[in-house]
Amino acid sequence: MSAISNVPTRSAKPQGVCTGVVGLQWGDEGKGKIVDLLTAQHDVVVRYNGGANAGHSVVIAGQRYALHLIPAGILSPGKLAVIGNGVVVDPEALLKELDTLIGKGVDVAGLVVSQNAHVVLPYHKEEDTLREELLKGEVAGARLTRVSEPSIVTEIGTTRRGIGPCYADKVQRAAGVRMADLLRPEILTAKINIAATLKNPVFASRGTPSINVSEVVERALAFGKRLAPMIRDTTYLLHEQLAAGKRVMFEGANGTLLDVDHGTYPYVTGSSTAAGGIGPGSGVPTQRLSSLLGVMKAYSTRVGSGPMPTELFDAVGDGIRQRGREFGTTTGRPRRVGWLDLVALKYTAMINGATGLSVMLLDVLSGVEKLQVCTAYLIDERSTDRFPADSFDLAKAKPVYTTLPGFVEPVTGARTISELPANARSYLDMIERTVGVPLAFVSVGPDREQTIVVG
Ligand code: GDP
Ligand code: IMO
Ligand code: MG
Repeated sequence: MSAISNVPTRSAKPQGVCTGVVGLQWGDEGKGKIVDLLTAQHDVVVRYNGGANAGHSVVIAGQRYALHLIPAGILSPGKLAVIGNGVVVDPEALLKELDTLIGKGVDVAGLVVSQNAHVVLPYHKEEDTLREELLKGEVAGARLTRVSEPSIVTEIGTTRRGIGPCYADKVQRAAGVRMADLLRPEILTAKINIAATLKNPVFASRGTPSINVSEVVERALAFGKRLAPMIRDTTYLLHEQLAAGKRVMFEGANGTLLDVDHGTYPYVTGSSTAAGGIGPGSGVPTQRLSSLLGVMKAYSTRVGSGPMPTELFDAVGDGIRQRGREFGTTTGRPRRVGWLDLVALKYTAMINGATGLSVMLLDVLSGVEKLQVCTAYLIDERSTDRFPADSFDLAKAKPVYTTLPGFVEPVTGARTISELPANARSYLDMIERTVGVPLAFVSVGPDREQTIVVG
């Protein structure tokens, strides 16, 4: 029965299947590994957000692949890999990534790129750097200094891949360049002229080289020529696939705590990273998702600035960083490391409507004597289990921990839950119980094979 009596409800059996895979923390949760694993059960893998800020590592039989713009599904032959309209595409980075994959013997014939995806141009990267340097107070004349008080905004610690400025141009409209424009010299020239008019005065005032319109256009057209066979209307393509009964997986980039609306604003990225971004970023209604897998590490990591209540500054944190090889796939920066934050995870599972959990890097915790798990925050002396998705409020949060006994046994060889040490199982039970979402996978090593399928 419809909630509104004269409006029909959705058909119980829509054609095709849609699965979402989304990070529940600050990125780098291990999404690439799980997407690769689940590609076997899908026909199409779609990126719907972010750009070359993402770094998704996949290890297959000891060989490591790093993907930035291309969906991890490309590594499985015969699948369609779609870069959706919500992604911001740096054509130079995309071609480099394609060449690297081809060099490793990967068949890239299945890649298509939305004609409506926005294009990251060299001046977006200049702008990204300029803004960061300004916020750091390193640009001559700027008087903002780096401070730790939560009431003052410091540099975001972006990947400097031009992500924020490209999304800003998309929203500002006139200067926003789409992939289709790489095949339309007149429109492309007009748009880059507008970008130059708007940005050059600022660049000039800060000693950044001005946009040379003809140079930018020429390079962009050359990239367009190579990419032309891949540029398509991916919205209709995806709907055709679903109508033919195909199985489509959406690969989230970044993490929910970096979502521009629901993350730790302003220390976030420029896109809707959570499941809500799937509809606008692909043209497939988000409500078509039949399952949403929330991917999380067995502890917390973060790259860049912004509050992180459970951050560790001691030898335990250093040990986790070393064992987990917690250095960025994209920028090589050491990642900040902390205890598991269940307040944050309950919040992000809620935002995404997660139907299953994938706990990654459990092996990294082996040997840690006592495991601390944050179950509440103290904010202004009051206890809360609500996550304040605002950096200035979150910066005041002091974690309240529950301590669980650790496990010393190595777990990398486990392939079933029952093969895990009892203390590791208790840790997983605590996560499942507190977050209120069933466990679907546990990862005990980077390789495809090092995975426990639960249930
Ligand atoms: P993504 O951005 O979410 O795809 O994650 P990244 O690839 O940036 O970072 C995850 C890192 O952990 C990569 O180096 C993976 O190879 C690695 N990894 C994934 N799962 C496991 C695991 O269960 N154990 C260990 N030790 N490493 C893992
Ligand atoms: P994957 O897909 C981890 C972080 C940056 C910075 C903030 C804004 O590999 O999980 P941006 O360049 O997007 O404007 O940077 O967001 N960030 C990520 N951190 N993993 C990512 O992607 C990230 N993408 C962006 O470090 O703090
Ligand atoms: Mg990553």
